This record gives sequence, C-alpha cells and structure tokens, in this order.
Amino acid sequence: MNFIFERTSVREFSDMELGIPEVEHLIKAGMQAPSAKNAQPWEFLVISDSEDCENVSKMTPYASPAANAQKLIITLGNLNISKEAGTEDWIQQDLSACNENILLQAVREGIGAVWLGFYPNEEHANSLKEYFNIPDHIIPFSVIALGYPKEKPISHDNYKAEKIHLDKY
Ligand SMILES: Cc1cc2nc3c(=O)[nH]c(=O)nc-3n(C[C@H](O)[C@H](O)[C@H](O)COP(=O)(O)O)c2cc1C
Repeated sequence: MNFIFERTSVREFSDMELGIPEVEHLIKAGMQAPSAKNAQPWEFLVISDSEDCENVSKMTPYASPAANAQKLIITLGNLNISKEAGTEDWIQQDLSACNENILLQAVREGIGAVWLGFYPNEEHANSLKEYFNIPDHIIPFSVIALGYPKEKPISHDNYKAEKIHLDKY
C-alpha cells in the first residue's frame, strides 16, 4: 500500500532533467495495465520540447502544470485496435488503468506526476490533435506532466468507512 498512499499530484517540478529511459520505464508500467479483452489500445506521445510543454499548458484552464514539466506523456487511445476487439466503449477505462499504473510507478521512481484531463472534452482533445498532427483514429486521452518534484505535497488518507456497503446497499 505504501506507493498508493504516497501518491499525490505533483504540479511543480525542479530543473533536474528527466531522461527518456526513465519515461520509458513509466510507460512500461502503463502497458502492464488491464484492458478489456486485453486489447491494449494505448499509444504514447512523449514531449520534451519546453515550447511544446508551454503550449500544451494553455490548451485547457487546468493544464498549467505542463508548462514547468520536464516531459509530458500524452496517453493515446487507438480506436482501430479497440474497434477490432469490439471494446470501443471501454477505451476510456483501459486508458485510465494505464494512466494510474504510470502515476504509481512514478512514485516508486521518485518522479513527480500529475494527470491532466483532456478527453472527452472535444475542444481540448482537438487542440492536442491539431497541434501534434495526431491522426483521426487516435484519441488524445490525457497528458501526464512529469518531472522531479520541486517539493513533495503532503498526501492524504482518503479512507471513508461509510462508502463501503457490505452485502446490501
Ligand atoms: C480524470 C482526471 C483529470 C484530471 N485533470 C487535472 C487537470 O486538468 N489539472 C490538474 O492540475 N489536475 C488534474 N487531475 C488531478 C486531480 O486534481 C487530483 O488527482 C485530485 O485533486 C486528487 O489529488 P491527488 O492526486 O493529489 O490525490 C485530474 C485527475 C483525474 C483522475
């Protein structure tokens, strides 16, 4: 449970460089996620350029952490893969599981991360699509902003016993 309880969204990153091998390691964890019919409909676009990060930060009202990130992982859903598997309706859940694996692996590696939501907001997802020339059968699902944490936010215990229903609601 340690990594789960330590995880918090990190939105301020230091100048310390985060390398591609470290990012690939996080993506490897993402690819281990469960997916409907094991379709694994994910792909990943990794952004290092600081001007691109800055531009992504302006694409939604809540994407500002992207501006000071060392790297961005844009998690992508491949509709061709999920359609072929008959799991198109589950693609958001597949990608969410993948995102969470990345966030938890980041804690283990001492890397700060925050999930920035884009899909299903059409306007926001289209901004990513147009800017990075992402083809139509690919959904830009979310942006995970990454870097070494400037300071570690305090994690909270979210446990609420009253949310658990035993045997009947
Ligand atoms: C679907 C989703 C979308 C999110 N979008 C944003 C976002 O656009 N900007 C942001 O700063 N945080 C975003 N977050 C992070 C949440 O704000 C954060 O997880 C929540 O406040 C709980 O805090 P914690 O992650 O530190 O536990 C998003 C999280 C999820 C799961």
